[in-house]
Amino acid sequence: MDNISDATKHFVDLRRHMWIAGIEVDLRRLIWQIAVTGKYISAKIHESNRKLAGFKNIYDEDQLALDKSSDQILQSQLRFSGFVREYASEELDSVIQIGKGDEKYYVTADPLDGSSLVDTNLSIGTIIGIHKGPVLSGRNSLVAAMYITYGPLITMVYSAGKGSHEFVLNREGEYVLSSENITLHERGTIYSLGGLRNEWTDDHRRYVEYLEAEGYKLRYSGGFVPDINQIMIKKGGVFTYPSLKTSGKGKLRLIFELQPMAFLMEQAGGMAIDGHTDILSIVPESLDQRSPVYIGSKFEIEKAREYLNASKRKGGLHDL
Ligand code: AHG
Ligand code: MN
Ligand code: MN
Repeated sequence: MDNISDATKHFVDLRRHMWIAGIEVDLRRLIWQIAVTGKYISAKIHESNRKLAGFKNIYDEDQLALDKSSDQILQSQLRFSGFVREYASEELDSVIQIGKGDEKYYVTADPLDGSSLVDTNLSIGTIIGIHKGPVLSGRNSLVAAMYITYGPLITMVYSAGKGSHEFVLNREGEYVLSSENITLHERGTIYSLGGLRNEWTDDHRRYVEYLEAEGYKLRYSGGFVPDINQIMIKKGGVFTYPSLKTSGKGKLRLIFELQPMAFLMEQAGGMAIDGHTDILSIVPESLDQRSPVYIGSKFEIEKAREYLNASKRKGGLHDL
């Protein structure tokens, strides 16, 4: 942002940043509204009662009260906001209409990612996708994405297609710019590995062995948001939750978790694939569709594509 002098650069709050970036007014307001909602979800985390709600979400996982209440907080903030026509959430069985029907945007939410970590006090997060059309359209409809990390600090990374930028919530309750136009290096030094090792495929295992031989450092918290945020802020590395022998599509949800993070990573000069195809090129067939994922800096993702396709190639591993 060359038209902001260095002296005042760190007092650029989220609204001013989006205005200077020339983001469409309803989209600016929507991103701002969701960022503010992060403060309410954070307050809920602090007062959380940590008891299981007894609900089961559509993945048949026990739902912490916090998952449900975070979803309800988001719905209440977006309902009749004037910007959102439909809302889809990891905690709901189907897309719901929460506007009058003429609003510009469609929102996807993982209201609370990493809910199994709440009682450990590890960082958790919220993941948001903003679409200009129905959410089952893949790359063609996604126009913005953001995630909020509830950790020692509350930070928020957003992109509306003009780079990925990080903001920190300061003591005055403002989101101020902390890292603009995040740009990943060609390669990094950390790897983040999901899924049980004894359920990995041979190609995936050989890829991991390659990374280990190259001296990558293991960083895996079990929270998708902080695990991705670490790669974003350290500007390189790879996160993977692969296809498993018992679950070919891996664990992570294409619409609620992978598409928004793929958008943000691509905007930061990184990549995200399912092992073969760009995550954002996959046209979702259902809300609860899962996908394997390799996401991070280019070198590691291209290397993953090589290893994951090795057994398909005639020469097998020799030509890697
Ligand atoms: P959620 O809490 O929204 O259900 O997401 C949990 C996900 C994701 O945060 C993380 O990467 C993954 O679960 C961890 O899975 P494992 O416990 O199998 O490692
Ligand atoms: Mn999640
Ligand atoms: Mn969740």
